[in-house]
Amino acid sequence: MGRVALVTGGSRGIGEAISKALKADGFEVAATYAGNDEKAAAFTAATGIKTYKWNVADYEASAAGIAQVEADLGPIDVVVANAGITRDAPFHKMSPEHWKEVVDTNLTGVFNTIHPVWPGMRERKFGRVVVISSINGQKGQFGQVNYAATKAGDLGIVRSLAQEGARAGITANAVCPGYIDTDMMKAVPEKVLNDVILPQIPAGRLGQPEEIARCVAFLASEEAGFINGSTISANGAQFFS
Ligand code: CAA
Repeated sequence: MGRVALVTGGSRGIGEAISKALKADGFEVAATYAGNDEKAAAFTAATGIKTYKWNVADYEASAAGIAQVEADLGPIDVVVANAGITRDAPFHKMSPEHWKEVVDTNLTGVFNTIHPVWPGMRERKFGRVVVISSINGQKGQFGQVNYAATKAGDLGIVRSLAQEGARAGITANAVCPGYIDTDMMKAVPEKVLNDVILPQIPAGRLGQPEEIARCVAFLASEEAGFINGSTISANGAQFFS
């Protein structure tokens, strides 16, 4: 049996492309989703990839869901913490709810996703952790104090885990996508996208989910064992860090 990979938010957008890429590379993939049953069922029908429903912001739900995945598919060797949300607003309009929802999902959700699989990876002396951060965690973004803070925090998680896991054969790396053509972009007003964002991307276009999935598949591979604590940026030359 192949290695098992868990992808949170793995039935839509960037996560969908990651799930498919890992399956193509021979992984047994479990994809989680939070709410869209219809899309998840269509995804499973099209790909044969099992989906599991839980809210990554909930530790107990994550731990129980992960235990179910391991009972079904075997120990998880690769975990891709991809699930994320935006609640964009200029800071003076940002509510405590906007802040909390994003922190609970994008930052605490990453803890909740990795923490239950970490002991098994340590025991088996193998693991690949990949966290989907963001260009906006690297550079900050007007309207995204909450999101940028969580995505910067995700880099702190990865860099710390890399040091803790290295001797146990576990790597932890981040991918920082730039602006990618997914449903998440639909929350951005069209005028802002065309007049402000696109002119800032030297590639002159949004990225495609598959272009992020290739980065993840590489980091998840056996051959990437000495790449640990790194950040791969895929942003069409919009930002260098
Ligand atoms: N830079 C500078 N000024 C900006 C700006 C920007 N990027 N965006 C808006 N402004 C200005 C507006 O022009 C406006 O100025 P005036 O008052 O002088 O006209 C002012 O800020 C405030 O605008 P509004 O009161 O209209 O603000 P709003 O409440 O309608 O919404 C916003 C503002 C939510 C930030 C909206 O502009 C927006 O959605 N921007 C996009 C934010 C963004 O890039 N999000 C990334 C989403 S994709 C993602 O997150 C994935 C990833 O990892 C990359």
